Amino acid sequence: MADFTTQPIVAASSSYTSDIKHLKELEKNGVSAVVLKSIFEEEILNGFNESLDLDDRFNSSLEFLDYYDYELKQESLDKYIQLIEDAKEALTIPVIASINCISAQEWTEFAEKFEKAGADGIELNIFILPSDTKKTATEIEQEYLKIIKKVKSAVSIPVAIKIGPYFTNISEMLRKIDKEGVSAMVLFNRTYSPDYDIDKLEITSSNIYSSPKDYTLPLRWIALNYKKLNCSFAASTGIHDGDTMIKLLLAGADVVQVASTVFINGPEQINKMLTRLEEWMHKKNLLNINQFRGELSSNDTRNPAEFERVQFMKYFSGKKI
Ligand SMILES: Cc1cc2nc3c(=O)[nH]c(=O)nc-3n(C[C@H](O)[C@H](O)[C@H](O)COP(=O)(O)O)c2cc1C
Repeated sequence: MADFTTQPIVAASSSYTSDIKHLKELEKNGVSAVVLKSIFEEEILNGFNESLDLDDRFNSSLEFLDYYDYELKQESLDKYIQLIEDAKEALTIPVIASINCISAQEWTEFAEKFEKAGADGIELNIFILPSDTKKTATEIEQEYLKIIKKVKSAVSIPVAIKIGPYFTNISEMLRKIDKEGVSAMVLFNRTYSPDYDIDKLEITSSNIYSSPKDYTLPLRWIALNYKKLNCSFAASTGIHDGDTMIKLLLAGADVVQVASTVFINGPEQINKMLTRLEEWMHKKNLLNINQFRGELSSNDTRNPAEFERVQFMKYFSGKKI
């Protein structure tokens, strides 16, 4: 069973967590829980559009299209349910299903089905790209809250919410999400970003993996909100080694989630991170993580203003750049 106090690493949702062989490797190397690859409603809808040939598109009646859509959705859901059931059978640690939907009613339908399939928790991977100029920031935030409220009322297993950092007032948003009674917040998701190939003049994808320097963003926001909310924090993005994991625990994270480092360094990296944690705790005479969790958060640090500081004023003054 999971012991987050000695094994504070959770396998983040990614293609690595979409098959049993890799899930078993992750468990063997010491993760305390796994978040399965997200089921994306958008992917199901794209699959539906791509599977129609031109004749289908022009000649089909609406009922036929509805049926086609239903079939494809059912197929994707069945596959995902099978993955949950297989993972539950193969692993002893908690298995968390991950959902990313577009239409409001699908979030609850998927969540209910995954709870029935035996998932130990649901992670809602929500990202609404704020590109619609007709929607206000408040309206977008309301959409997040509506999804969370609906899913929370539909299932009784723990619900975690995974979001990005792009809110005008992230601290207020975290409070609103917390009030909905989520069990955990995953701070932060890292989303796909487009890039350009200037030789081919084509749009490509930018770095798929995070950089080990990216961890300072979750560090700041977890440190600022430690002990101010009821839910737990899972730190995510840029956590590639043991030292960085220790920093996020010092900021107040309950667990860290890792994806990129597993792709780059293999699942053995989890074991190395846990060994590093053990060595560090031994050197500091610490017996358990609760003795130091949040010690350098804005609650406990000797200098809380450090987390509010946003300009490099002192750093650059008097220095030659
Ligand atoms: C190849 C790949 C696939 C991913 N797929 C998903 C996904 O299906 N659902 C999700 O919520 N996050 C997904 N992510 C994001 C990760 O779960 C994680 O939040 C992000 O990569 C930041 O953590 P990291 O720095 O440890 O990689 C994916 C990441 C990678 C690298």
